[in-house]
Amino acid sequence: MEIGIDRNGDIDSWKEVQLVYNSALKQISTKLEILNDEFQHVHRYNPIEHIKSRIKTPESIVKKLKKHGYESTIDNMVKYVNDIAGIRVICSFTSDIYQIAEMISNQSDIKVISVKDYIVNPKASGYKSYHMLVSVPVYLSDRIENTKVEIQIRTVAMDFWASLEHKIHYKFEGNAPEHIREQLVECAQMVAALDARMLSLNEEILHIGQQDDRE
Ligand code: GTP
Ligand code: MG
Repeated sequence: MEIGIDRNGDIDSWKEVQLVYNSALKQISTKLEILNDEFQHVHRYNPIEHIKSRIKTPESIVKKLKKHGYESTIDNMVKYVNDIAGIRVICSFTSDIYQIAEMISNQSDIKVISVKDYIVNPKASGYKSYHMLVSVPVYLSDRIENTKVEIQIRTVAMDFWASLEHKIHYKFEGNAPEHIREQLVECAQMVAALDARMLSLNEEILHIGQQDDRE
């Protein structure tokens, strides 16, 4: 880590920053778990398959700051790196994504800073996901720290695609051969078709279930 490795003060403040971001991740995770439990109670199904969270390593924070031409200071990290705390929510259906996003936005202590809907507007790579940058208050003994968390919401199928694409991207250091990139775009279209098909199949099943209830 390049941030004043021999300056104890900097190490201490990095530890404190980590503690705050970790607390923010815990808060968002708990909120999501509560929403999932409530959903199970009301609708008899879980919109969330699973949740993964991570704190960005100091190495990649420094790399990102450098890329954007900023000095590696704690202040710059907090100000310019929006994904120090990241949480990924994996759902079954595309419709779940929007329900979760709305439930999160409706919480009065959460402030939505920005939204990127890569489902409606996929990246050129074929990448699809719903990204939200939110801020959540973390209550410390002497102050409240409004802390940024990047939330990525995607289906199991989108996650499958993104994991493979990520591996390929790293292997070729961002310069994958044309035919591989083309196949990835094709796979992304197959993922979208699969997601749409699974959603309509699920709706059909739910509909049959409702008819059975009435009979
Ligand atoms: P970063 O500098 O990568 O954080 O990009 P950004 O600040 O423009 O944010 P963006 O919302 O585009 O992407 C943030 C995160 O989404 C990345 O760190 C990845 O986790 C994920 N992501 C974005 N694009 C792709 C992609 O093409 N493939 C994969 N596998 N993941 C992606
Ligand atoms: Mg990122």
